[in-house]
Amino acid sequence: MNKSYFIETFGCQMNVADSELVEGLLQKEGYKPADNINSADAIFVNTCAIREHAEEKVHSQLGRYNLIKKQKPDIIIGVLGCMAQNLKDSILESRPYVDIVLGPDSYRKLPEILNRKANNAKSIVDTKLSRYEVYDDLFPSRNEGINAWISIMRGCDKFCTFCIVPFTRGRERSRSIASIVAEAEQAVRDGFVEITMLGQNVNSYKHEQEGFPELLEAVASISGLKRIRYTSPHPQDINTELLEVMAAHDTICNYIHLPLQAGSNRILKRMNRTYTKEHFLGLADHIRDSLPNVGISTDIIVGFPGETNAEFEETLDVMEKIKFDSAFTFKYSSRPGTKAAGYSNHLSEEEKKERLQRVIELQKNHTLDRNLNTVGNVETVLIEKESKKSTQHWAGRTDSNKWVIFEKHNSKIKDFVPVLITAAKGVSLHGDLIYKEEAHVI
Ligand code: SAH
Ligand code: SF4
Ligand code: F3S
Repeated sequence: MNKSYFIETFGCQMNVADSELVEGLLQKEGYKPADNINSADAIFVNTCAIREHAEEKVHSQLGRYNLIKKQKPDIIIGVLGCMAQNLKDSILESRPYVDIVLGPDSYRKLPEILNRKANNAKSIVDTKLSRYEVYDDLFPSRNEGINAWISIMRGCDKFCTFCIVPFTRGRERSRSIASIVAEAEQAVRDGFVEITMLGQNVNSYKHEQEGFPELLEAVASISGLKRIRYTSPHPQDINTELLEVMAAHDTICNYIHLPLQAGSNRILKRMNRTYTKEHFLGLADHIRDSLPNVGISTDIIVGFPGETNAEFEETLDVMEKIKFDSAFTFKYSSRPGTKAAGYSNHLSEEEKKERLQRVIELQKNHTLDRNLNTVGNVETVLIEKESKKSTQHWAGRTDSNKWVIFEKHNSKIKDFVPVLITAAKGVSLHGDLIYKEEAHVI
């Protein structure tokens, strides 16, 4: 009888894509997805180490798996991904019931390791990072039919002082344009209408002499592909050439994630972010000049070690000047092994909490302002899922990455439809489907 697996994924989209790779490998070995966690023969958890809280969530899941294993001693428990890489053997010391620990560059070994386990080998750890592994020839098993994640590069060489990623994912390496285009074409044949190209540093993509703008250009010419997104870029690697390619192709979404992290030059320097506040402000202007109506989101960290109140105010000042469409906001979380963990003057939890609250409040106003600007526009929306609000409504995104909720009428998931934006509430837009008698689907 076929064995079954259950996989849970934490962390960023890179992990979502990696889990799909792992599923592809497992299915090739004859494993089938289990209906639920309790009926699985193997449980995998793909983990994230970006903040302490991310690791805590995984620890609590591992406690749950232990209870399942007590009932079912033959079950295999595998810990994959960044936390596996970060903690290595110490996971096995504290969680002896874990059978397999695999870092992000070791997934290719999974079939062999499962065989070794079947022959009663003891727990197996493989966390060797590679300079070359890009899983070019493996095929992911994708679940939903709208957006296909495609990893185009792996690793990060930026070494921001707060960040664990260069340690968990290793050095930067990119796939060839030909293999990325082939994977995107296959995704189109499989019925996907959108692809999102992924990398921790997506726009420092470099394969032989070709960079990210060349790659985008090549992907944009794939016929049948309706939308192209990418994440996450680094501000340092956004250049005019990239903006020109984006402007030249309607299929490339009018949206850029531009992680600010902090607004003070001293803090940016201590973070090793390689840009100044002035450069960042100029870049935001350049983006908005090149791409009218572009959506810009950001990441902000409050309470980096040594951040004074005045320096924190500079973050608010940059936010005020740019008015991002949305923001992911975080309290600084010390990651053992990173440079910033060794810095002095760590802030108290209270101080970080208070700063986070202020950033969240400010961003709420900006998101609303930006969203209100779209009221009265007709936006093209890709219908992605049913709205949580009601079974009569769809939720879909504009190409500038704003969620829109509207009545279904006779439209269906995966349609691209024109929607008149009538209101902005909370973080979403509301609108009316513009119904065209003959073909309402554009
Ligand atoms: N490669 C991307 C982001 C990677 S992680 C980039 O450079 O933008 C996503 C976000 O998590 C980061 O942008 C940062 O805002 C946040 N982050 C990373 N390490 C963190 C830490 N130690 N504490 C709090 N937030 C962190
Ligand atoms: Fe981390 Fe900086 Fe690399 Fe982003 S660019 S993954 S924040 S080290
Ligand atoms: Fe987390 Fe690793 Fe992604 S640390 S954010 S899962 S690259």
